[in-house]
Parts: sequence; structure tokens; C-alpha cells
Amino acid sequence: MQKRETWGSRTGFVLAAVGSAIGLGNIWRFPYMVYENGGGAFLIPYFVAMLAAGIPFMILEFGLGQRFKGSAPRIFSSISRKWEWLGWWQVMVSFVIASYYVVVIAWAINYLALAFSQGWGAAPKDFFFGQFLGLTDSPMALGRVKTSIFSATAAAWIFTFIAIFSGVKSGIERVNKIFMPVLFLLVFVFIARGLSLPGAVDGVNWLFKPDFSAIMNGKVWADAFGQIFFSLSIGFGIMLSYSSYLPKKSDITNNACMTVFINCGFSVISGIMIFSVLGYMAQQQGVPIKDVAGAGVGLAFVTLPTAINLMPAPVFFGVLFFLALVVAGLSSMISITEVVVSAIIDKMNVSRKTAAVAFCGIGFMVSTAFTTGGGLYLLDIVDHFVNNFGILLGGFIEIMFIAWMCDLNSLCDHINKTSEIKVGALWMNSLRFFVPAMLGFMLVSNFIGDIKENYSGYSNEAILTYGWAVLFACMALAVFFASKERAFVGVSSSNSNFLKRS
Ligand code: ALA
Repeated sequence: MQKRETWGSRTGFVLAAVGSAIGLGNIWRFPYMVYENGGGAFLIPYFVAMLAAGIPFMILEFGLGQRFKGSAPRIFSSISRKWEWLGWWQVMVSFVIASYYVVVIAWAINYLALAFSQGWGAAPKDFFFGQFLGLTDSPMALGRVKTSIFSATAAAWIFTFIAIFSGVKSGIERVNKIFMPVLFLLVFVFIARGLSLPGAVDGVNWLFKPDFSAIMNGKVWADAFGQIFFSLSIGFGIMLSYSSYLPKKSDITNNACMTVFINCGFSVISGIMIFSVLGYMAQQQGVPIKDVAGAGVGLAFVTLPTAINLMPAPVFFGVLFFLALVVAGLSSMISITEVVVSAIIDKMNVSRKTAAVAFCGIGFMVSTAFTTGGGLYLLDIVDHFVNNFGILLGGFIEIMFIAWMCDLNSLCDHINKTSEIKVGALWMNSLRFFVPAMLGFMLVSNFIGDIKENYSGYSNEAILTYGWAVLFACMALAVFFASKERAFVGVSSSNSNFLKRS
């Protein structure tokens, strides 16, 4: 068996975990979640989700990874061979996410180049959907591959490949040690200048104005929990595989809390960055803040360029913003890819280099579908289903399995042995009751919502093909890989003591 790699230092690990957590989810998704859920209203459920579910789940995943030392399938297989499929489900979900996540990074790379001359022109919306994406009429018409997006996708895959291929310490850790400080610097410089623009402070005030009535709205809570899981990279194998490279004596709770606080703090900082721009734009156009932005994809690639056109130093703001998006995206992309690569290494007992070549090659080919004229529709549907069901279902089953069928007390002892901050009844009760209840609620309400009405008004054919069929294929492949005879090399049978005997 190959010797498991380890991180070079504690800082290296925390930076990599933070690098994974901070991504498109913070700069692109968080602000529009806030925006769609009525501004400051969103922050209360968001912070409740962070404290009550994000931190306990992060501690759980760090503890499992560090104790069982493996990729997601290997961890669940070490606990019980019957549960290996759960790890593969998380691997498949990460595979799908990696294949489209990289394409959003590719858009950002293109926009970074365009930012030097505001190449998106005077009508950024028409440019984005027309000339840039070449959007077709329907998701079933994929049309041609867009060369500019395809080339940038190839570049992003190559970068990811080099980081993964070079290893945990010399690849992943090294990239994050450079990228994270750079990312914080970019965002702080943006804010330092952006906040002095007229109207900017109004935008920020809107972000922080709490609206207690939102607490009664189930959708706001579901969005807040979904955002916490996606943004913290929990529930889809990432933090399991990253923490599997932790040395034996590592602190778990402190590292987990640090990762969560830095990530969520960064989300708020990105919120300030975006809302200062929206405030400025609203003032320039003489309209209320709630009327300036489009949600979703549009916020980063339509609203921001529109605002940048109006700004005093457009090149400065444009380059900073899109560079931040690329840097944040790439460090997360590396972690999503590592979920799959670590699973291949563990299961097939091949070298990291072989696994990296195999997966990055396949991943790149699959990504091509998202670089076509219909790519945006495809991405939108796949992203909706993978987020709303793929991640949440993986997280829900993981937590039910570990909290109810395994010896959570022994994991608690394991974590406390090396951690400065001790966990106890509060942590275990949150994992046994609160988190599964919230995840269960979201899964059911998402399911009812999607059955009642097609997501975003897409046709049945599109929803079935790119939504349900993709989930079904992930499940079928998960079961298939788990059924493959080759058991993980070096999985000791003593680990199975973790499973409760009934
Ligand atoms: N956690 C990553 C993000 O927020 C996936 O983008």
C-alpha cells in the first residue's frame, strides 16, 4: 500500500480547507442568495445555519477524515463494507460539480481578459447571452462549442491537473498558500476603493438591514442551509478527503471552527463588495437597490459589468473582481477534483499521477458539453438538481448513518484527545437531531417543489434528462463502483467497531 501523504503544516491544511470553502459560492452565489431573500433578512438564518449545522458538520467531517484516513468511499467502507456506496455517491456528485464548476471559472477567465477594455461593451446583458454564450433556444439544442469558453475551460483543467498531480503538499497546499492571501488582498483593495463611491454605503446598509419577518419563511431557511453546505464544502466528500491527510496529532475542532469562521466572514466581505457596487449603481440610475440586479448567473456576469461601465476606474474594478473570482474558483475546483482523485487512488491502488491523468482527462471531456450554446441551460438544471438533492441527500444519509448507527461517543473521544476545544453533548445532539431535521425538511420541501412545478419553467424532457437522469446515473454508478470486488488495501477490520452492533 502507498504511504498516505500529509499536509506540510497546520497553516497549510487550514488554508487548503479555506481555499476549498471559499469559492464561487461566496463571491457569486452568496450575494444573490442574500438579494433574492430580501437582503439582511437572510443573514439571521444564515448565521443560525452556520452555528448549528455548519460547525458541527465540519467537526464531524474533519474527525472522520483524520480518524479513518481515506477518501469518502474508503472511510465509509472502513466503517462497514455495506456503506461504501455512500462515499461513491459523494464522489459522483463531486464529479458532476467539477465538470460544470470549471466552466463558470472559464467564463470568469474570459471576463478577466475582457475587463482590460470593458470588452463586454455598452450592453453587457446582450453581450453575455448573445455573443459570449451564444445561447440557443432550448436546453435540448446544445449547438456548437464556443471556442473562447472551451479554451479557458481547458486552461482551468490544466491548472487543476498540475496542482493535483504535484501532490498534497507540493501541489494543493502550495497553490492555496499563494492564492488565499492574494484573494483577500484583491477583495480588500476593491472594498477600500469601492466604499468611497457615492451610494455605496446605502448598498451595504441594505445588506445588513435585518428583517425579522423572514424568519417565518421556510424558503429562506432552506436557502440558508443549502448555502452553508455548498459554501463550506461539506456533505460531498471534500472535507473528508482533505482531512484524511492530517497527521495523527492534529487539532480538529479549532481547525474546523477557523475554517467555518473565515469562510463565512469572507462571504460577508464579498457581500459588502458586491452591495457597495449595487448601491453605487442604484444611485447612478436613480432606482431603488432592489431593482438593479438580476439574480443568479446574471449578478456576476451582467450586473457587475454594467456597474463597472459606470465606475470611475473601470479597469481597476473589473480586473480585481474577475481575478478574485478566478482565484477563488480555482482553489475550490482543486478540492472538488481531489475528492474523485483520492477515491481512485484508494480504490484502485494506483499512483496519484495516474489517477490525476485519468480523471482530469475524463472530466475535461464531460465539461465540453457545458461550453456549448446550450451549456448555460444544462449548467443551470444540473446545478439545481445536484445542489438540492445530490449534496443534501449525501449529507443527510451521512449524518443519519454516523449519528445513529455508529458510535458517535467514540468519535467524540477521538476528537477531544487532540483538540483544544472539547466537544460533547451539544455537538452530538446537534448531529443527531437538529442537522438531520433541517436537512430532511429541505429535502422534502425541495422534492415537493420540483415535483409540483418544473424548475425555472424548463420542459419535462430537459428536467428528466439533465436533472433526474443525472441523479439516477450518479446513484447507479455509485452502487456499481461500491460493488467492485477490489476492497481497499489496508482497511483494518478493527475500524468496524465504530459501527454499533444491534
Ligand atoms: N465551497 C465551494 C464554493 O463555495 C464549492 O464555491
